[in-house]
Amino acid sequence: MWSFCAIVNLVLRSTLRFSPDGTFQITVLSDLHFAEYEDSAQGATQDARTAGVVQKVLQHETSTQLVVLNGDLISGYGTTSDNATRYLDQVFAPIHALDLPWAVTYGNHDNERFSKSRALFDYESSTYPDQSLTRDMGPQGSEAGVSNYYLEVFAETEDVPALLLWFFDSRGGDQPHDWVDDSVVEWFVSTNANLVQQYKRAVPSLAFFHIPITAAYDFQVKPGVNPSRQPGKNGEKVWWQGRGYDGKTGHDLKFMTALSNTDGMLATFSGHDHDNDWCFKWKRSPSTSAGLNVCYGRHTGYGSYGSLARGARQILLKKDTLAEEVVTWIRLEDGLVPENVTLNATYGQDEYHPHHRGFPQRTDLRRGLSAVENIGVGLDVSTLYLVGLVLFWWIRGR
Ligand SMILES: *[C@@H]1O[C@H](CO)[C@@H](O)[C@H](O)[C@H]1NC(C)=O
Ligand SMILES: *[C@@H]1O[C@H](CO)[C@@H](O)[C@H](O)[C@H]1NC(C)=O
Ligand SMILES: *[C@@H]1O[C@H](CO)[C@@H](O)[C@H](O)[C@H]1NC(C)=O
Repeated sequence: MWSFCAIVNLVLRSTLRFSPDGTFQITVLSDLHFAEYEDSAQGATQDARTAGVVQKVLQHETSTQLVVLNGDLISGYGTTSDNATRYLDQVFAPIHALDLPWAVTYGNHDNERFSKSRALFDYESSTYPDQSLTRDMGPQGSEAGVSNYYLEVFAETEDVPALLLWFFDSRGGDQPHDWVDDSVVEWFVSTNANLVQQYKRAVPSLAFFHIPITAAYDFQVKPGVNPSRQPGKNGEKVWWQGRGYDGKTGHDLKFMTALSNTDGMLATFSGHDHDNDWCFKWKRSPSTSAGLNVCYGRHTGYGSYGSLARGARQILLKKDTLAEEVVTWIRLEDGLVPENVTLNATYGQDEYHPHHRGFPQRTDLRRGLSAVENIGVGLDVSTLYLVGLVLFWWIRGR
């Protein structure tokens, strides 16, 4: 029996659905940083390169059904006049060209100087009403931020969602508080409780927010990121929610508690730290909880700092195994896949080696240099060779 809801959902073009083969794929773009050098020719070149990354990643990921832009679409500090919203046309162009829907969370640099996340949201909603799924459902008011909302993803013919996607504004920039506001956390908890009641079960969910939670910093300090168990780049100290405010941890305690208490919450995804792209299993109390998978995306844009090859995280969900595993990999601009992990019950204990599927030869070569790369020097073999040669001639000449 088709309910009214199912019919409405079928009619609405923007309804997200698993494919007939039971999969749903998401591409996550992190830290695009358009408009960084608004006043110079360099700016246009850099923005074109960033658009190129998105285009190339999507050329490889032909099964993607939704693009998430997880904050810092715009480098607000680079804007010099009140036209930041117009950069969104460039940001969305490669996604629009493929007729894919997208969903945005705002980052600290989207709300800075001449760029205002409220203005970006208004422009996005009115200019792209069909493709933009970005909403503002959370509490209204200056403290809450803008992009707090959820989306439902349906199985092929069902009218109750198989998956929920939550999006949060972790603020910062012109707002001194760089964490998800407590009022938003309350909205999340009560809205989710209503959904559990309405659907008579905890629907599997994912969460997206720009600035990582303090748990990621704690993990990085102890036990630390192990390249075999948390494959990926660990090139900088985690910038946790609240660090920008007073350098203290704990501002996001309420948010973290809510995430870890949400039945069905499978994984969270953040950006902000351009040189990190690992996932870890966060266990609040090691003895009891199954843990929550906490992931970075991958630096996508050419704006701002960062020494990693540009790319984007992919998330592959299978309807039949949703509760058991989330498969996720990084697709680089040049087509390579340097990481591919399965976030399942044993993620965090499973050993991933450089030769596991998806690790190409070039990544193996670079792995030996990861310690050097991690301090941000970004040396490669040819630079080392040149430095050696110069040293050799210098010593000989003395
Ligand atoms: C915004 O204004 C600046 C300064 O006039 C200009 O250089 C830039 O190209 C404009 N950006 C867009 C996207 O229109
Ligand atoms: C990543 O691994 C999964 C299986 O674990 C596989 O289905 C998927 O195709 C892989 N992705 C790529 C790009 O190789
Ligand atoms: C989780 O995935 C990894 C990698 O595919 C696999 O080796 C491991 O056996 C899986 N664990 C479970 C519990 O399925």
